[in-house]
Amino acid sequence: MQIHYYGHSTFLIETKGIKLLFDPFISENDKAADINLEDIHADFILVSHGHGDHIADVESIAKRCNSKVISNYEISNHFTAKGLDCHPISHGGKFDFDFGTVKSVNAVHTSSFPDGSYAGNPAGFVIWNDVDTFYFAGDTALTLDMQLIPVTCPKLDFALLPIGDNFTMGYEDAVIASDFIKCDNIIGCHFDTFGYIEIDHAKAIECFESKGKKIILPKIGQQVNI
Ligand code: NI
Ligand code: MN
Repeated sequence: MQIHYYGHSTFLIETKGIKLLFDPFISENDKAADINLEDIHADFILVSHGHGDHIADVESIAKRCNSKVISNYEISNHFTAKGLDCHPISHGGKFDFDFGTVKSVNAVHTSSFPDGSYAGNPAGFVIWNDVDTFYFAGDTALTLDMQLIPVTCPKLDFALLPIGDNFTMGYEDAVIASDFIKCDNIIGCHFDTFGYIEIDHAKAIECFESKGKKIILPKIGQQVNI
């Protein structure tokens, strides 16, 4: 399957011919200056929480592409008020879309809009259909709740985990997360965007390899094939 990385936690993943965009933060990301927003088409936009580095381009892309936004109740209300088509989903709940099932899972983080207003609780998503199964963790600490994912969802093919530390778990904890979710195929995100979350790439890779696991540190604009 094809996974496009647009920097920070922004991924475009195509499954069953449907394009799913996660946490679009491009126009405000200096590191993603080479990405042309207009080149991105999304059928659905999945939003993990309300922070600016996860929602910056939701409105413009959704309006241009007529995308449906999938997020928690509060963020869905926020974007519905801006005229977007939204599907609210809460933690523990799942829903069958045309492209497959989306389950909202816990994330340990905070969630507010850039103006400080309440944006509900942060979440991750597990997505599956008869071809692909993957986990987009959003911004989260390592949490024991991750152990529920292999109990309640099909076996993961891969997972997108934050590894930049400071605001989320770092790569050492992400190795433990990969044990909890029973998935050894990890793509890292939420690293190197700002000074607080710059990481040593060689150390992160070594940390995973020492446990017999694989982590990909995608480059901005890169297409990753799993
Ligand atoms: Ni955040
Ligand atoms: Mn973030």
